[in-house]
Amino acid sequence: MKAQSETVVRPARNIRGTVELPGDKSISHRYAMLAGIAEGPSRLENYSTGADCASTLGCMRALGVTWQRKADSQNTIEVQGRGLALAAPSTPLDCGNSGSTMRMLSGIGAGQHFTSEMIGDESLSRRPMERVIQPLSAMGARVGSQQGKPPLRITGALLRAIDYKMPVASAQVKSCLLFAGLFADGETRIEESVRTRDHGEVALRAFGAKLHRKSVGGGNEVRIAGGQRLRGIEARIPGDLSSAAFFLCAAALFPESQLTIPNLLMNPTRARLLDILMQMGLRISVTQLDEIHGELVGSLQVEGGKLKGIAIAGADSAALIDEIPVLAAIAPFTEQGIEVRDAKELRVKESDRIAAVATNLRLMGAQVEEREDGLKIPGGQTLHGAELDSFSDHRIAMAFAVAALRAEGETLIRGAESAAISYPAFFNTLEELSER
Ligand code: S3P
Repeated sequence: MKAQSETVVRPARNIRGTVELPGDKSISHRYAMLAGIAEGPSRLENYSTGADCASTLGCMRALGVTWQRKADSQNTIEVQGRGLALAAPSTPLDCGNSGSTMRMLSGIGAGQHFTSEMIGDESLSRRPMERVIQPLSAMGARVGSQQGKPPLRITGALLRAIDYKMPVASAQVKSCLLFAGLFADGETRIEESVRTRDHGEVALRAFGAKLHRKSVGGGNEVRIAGGQRLRGIEARIPGDLSSAAFFLCAAALFPESQLTIPNLLMNPTRARLLDILMQMGLRISVTQLDEIHGELVGSLQVEGGKLKGIAIAGADSAALIDEIPVLAAIAPFTEQGIEVRDAKELRVKESDRIAAVATNLRLMGAQVEEREDGLKIPGGQTLHGAELDSFSDHRIAMAFAVAALRAEGETLIRGAESAAISYPAFFNTLEELSER
């Protein structure tokens, strides 16, 4: 067991200042993987500082990809692409806490001429992998697991293209299969009935691949032909919107808040959070919209206001999957409360996030109704500081640091170091932005 660090969060009066976020985690993972299998060098500025994206880089190194961190303040990574053929690793690929690393990289491993083993920490070892095992096996790879859980043992093959309708809404699975599709004989077609983030599609195009996309009902179809070669890119990765969510929700807690967030990812498949927060009463204006390698970027000016309640269900639950914990954590302070439905996937994230949110809110004195696929949290509640646990989950640690800003008295968060999985500077930055 690693030593757990404790952090104390004091109540605040306001959120005020400017914060620029480290590069988006979803994009950083995909760029690191694609840069490794591209031809020629890539230069990735503002690469995510989170431990998860370092796990991806570690795995790429074990697969024979050379990369280095530049000694600048831009978190720049330079990667020497090897082309589609990677080297057989001499040790297991350590994915740490990162489900994205294991699921997406398994799509690349499936197309190699060797066997690789992928391992993860205690939390990742409990997470479901059947969702990639089944389609990769249908493409011809051999994938061993512990009853559908990690470690995974992947023996690559000459893959067959498949036509696959995803049973679970998951951008990680979609990217995994698109990456595997690069190695397949023929055209792979993937259908999702609910739209998930499209960074895999956008990144593949940035690295020179051709793919076809079209809307099908409320979802999408993506087709990719095998045998395409990628070329390296130079890119600055936009700020992580899911990390910004913690500061946006903190700002929403206080009517006098004023926050500026430059260079933030605004990809429409991720930006639903901004609409929801505006419906809840936060005033947000966007300037300097730009597009970098197909990803939308903008600068946000945010002002606090009223904090109204909201219901999140259906496609919104998939679109907001990483932000629901922090929205739920501020729910007691809204006027009408927040109801979340259709979010069963939260139970199989880094922790069971529905249970974790309910437990911590109750410890702070809140009334909460926990359901199999969500939560119902009444508004207009007063919370008190408490001793909470992060459940070794970065988003739970950060969500409750935000709730603690409006509680009466101090809150202690055990296992606060797990914030470093996606955002090592989180607690320092929150402290800098909090007025007392
Ligand atoms: C991610 C997709 C989501 C999300 C995760 C990152 C991605 O997971 O929760 O943090 O980068 O594709 P699922 O694909 O399991 O929904």
